[in-house]
Amino acid sequence: MSLVLDPAPAPRRLPADIAVRGARAPAPIPLDTPPGTLGLLKGLRDNPVATWTRWHFEQPIVHGKSVLGRVAVVSDPAVIRHVLVENSANYDKGGLQRRMLGGGLGTGLLLAEGAEWKAQRRALAPLFSPRHVEGFKRAMVAVADEMGERWSRLRDGRRIDVAAEMARVTLRVLGRTVFSEAMNGPEDHFARTVSRYLEAVGKIDPLDILDLPAWVPRLASAQTKPLIRFFEDEVTAMLAKRRALLAGDAAAAPRDLLTLLLEARDPETGLGLSDDDVKANIITFLIAGHETTSNALTWALYLLSEHPEARAAVEGEVDALMPDGRIDPTQVDAFVHTRAALDEAMRLYPPAASITREALGPDILGGIRIKARTMVVVSPYVLHRHKLLWDAPDHFVPERFLPERRGSVDRFAYLPFGAGPRICIAASFAIQEAVIILATAMRHVRLTVAPGHEVMPVQRVALRSRGGMPMILRQR
Ligand code: HEM
Repeated sequence: MSLVLDPAPAPRRLPADIAVRGARAPAPIPLDTPPGTLGLLKGLRDNPVATWTRWHFEQPIVHGKSVLGRVAVVSDPAVIRHVLVENSANYDKGGLQRRMLGGGLGTGLLLAEGAEWKAQRRALAPLFSPRHVEGFKRAMVAVADEMGERWSRLRDGRRIDVAAEMARVTLRVLGRTVFSEAMNGPEDHFARTVSRYLEAVGKIDPLDILDLPAWVPRLASAQTKPLIRFFEDEVTAMLAKRRALLAGDAAAAPRDLLTLLLEARDPETGLGLSDDDVKANIITFLIAGHETTSNALTWALYLLSEHPEARAAVEGEVDALMPDGRIDPTQVDAFVHTRAALDEAMRLYPPAASITREALGPDILGGIRIKARTMVVVSPYVLHRHKLLWDAPDHFVPERFLPERRGSVDRFAYLPFGAGPRICIAASFAIQEAVIILATAMRHVRLTVAPGHEVMPVQRVALRSRGGMPMILRQR
C-alpha cells in the first residue's frame, strides 16, 4: 500500500494533575510495514485490528491502494466531520458491509440507504426520544438488579464468563424495553445464537473482499444459514402475535419497536414496510442492540479490574449512591465516575471498531483528491488511540471523561457512536443502560481476570475479547 501523508494537527495534552498508571491496555502491536495481499486477506479474516500499521496511529490520513481497492483511512477530526456530516450525501455504506451483513440484516435501518433509510429512521426515531429513553430506566434497573441478586449468591472464587453474562443481561434489557417482552424462547439460547451468528458473519470473508458473486459459497453462509432460520422463526412468531394484538385492541399494544415497524408509513407513498423489511429491522435491533453494549460493559469491567485507583473511584461512587444496593432511577446521571470509566473503555475498545463508507463521487479529503468508489474508513479504534490526538493513548485514564474535562475532547476525535445522519439511533439508550449495569455490577462484586487467560481484542461485528472474558468473582 502506498502512503500519502497529511500535515499533522496540534497534539492535545492531558492536564498535569492526571496521573497515567498501569500497563498498556492489551492490543495488537501496530505493524511496522503494511501487510502484503495475502497477509492482509488473512489478517482481515482473523482480526482486522491486527492489520493496522503504526502509520495509521501517527498520520491524520493514510491513503493508498490495496486488495480492498482505493482506501483512505481518515483520523483528522475536521476531515471526519466532512465525510460523516458536511458531505455525507456523497457517501454510502458500500458493498463490502452489505455483502458481509446482508444475509441477516438485509434492508434494516443499519444497511438501508436513501429514501428507504430516511423513512425507516423517521418511523423509529420516536422510540429513542429522550422521553422514551427516560421511560426505559425502570426496566433497565430491574434487569440490573436481577443480575446483582444472582451474582450476590455466587461463592467467592467462582469463575464466570463476564462476556457471556453481559450478553445475557443486555439481551434481557432489549427484551423488556424495545421488544416489550415479545421475545419467545429461552434468552440464553437466543444470546448464544446471536453470538455464534456474529462470530460467523463478523469474519471478513476474502470472497466478499474480492466481490465474487453471491452464489459462490462463503464459509460463513454455511454456518449462518441455520442461525438466520432460527431468528426468522422467532421473529415470525413475534410478528404474528403483535399483528393479532393490533387487530384486536390497538390501543392496548405497547408503543415499542414492533408496533412502530408495523405502523410505519412512507410519508411520500403512504406504503408500509414489507414483511421482509420489518424482519430485517427486528434482527438489526437484536444484533446492533446487544452485542455492542455487552462488549462495552465487558471491557469496562475488565479495565476497572486492572486499575485499582479507577476502581476505587467507581466503588466509592456506587457505595455512596446505592446504599441499599439498588439504583434510584432518578439518580442515573450522578454516576460520573462510572460513566467516565465506560467512556474510556469505549475509547480503548470501541464496540464499533470501524465505520466504513464508499465515495459516490470524487472528493477532497484534507487536500487529497479521492476518486469515486474509494473506501473511506473512519476507525474509532485507530482514532481513539491516535498519537496526534491523545496523550497516553494506550492507557486507561478515565479522568479524561469526568464532566469538568469532557469539554476538551474534540467531538470528532471520539466517535464510539459515529456521527452525522447515520449516528447510532440508540446512543443515549445504550449509555443509560450501560451505566446502570456497570454501577450495579461494581456495587456487588470485585472481579479479576482468571489466571492464565490472555486478554486480547478481536474484531468481529463488534470488538470482542478473544475467548470471552473469564473472571474470578468475589463479593464486596
Ligand atoms: C455501546 C453501545 C453501542 C455502540 C458503541 C453503537 C455504535 C454504533 C455506531 C458507530 C453506529 C453507526 C454506524 C455507521 O455510521 O456506519 C450505530 C448505528 C446503529 N445502532 Fe448502535 N451502538 C450501540 C448500541 C446500540 C443499541 C442499544 C441499539 C438498539 C437498541 C443500536 C442500534 C443501532 C442502529 C439501528 C444503527 C443504524 C442507524 C442508522 O443507520 O440510521 N445501537 N451504532
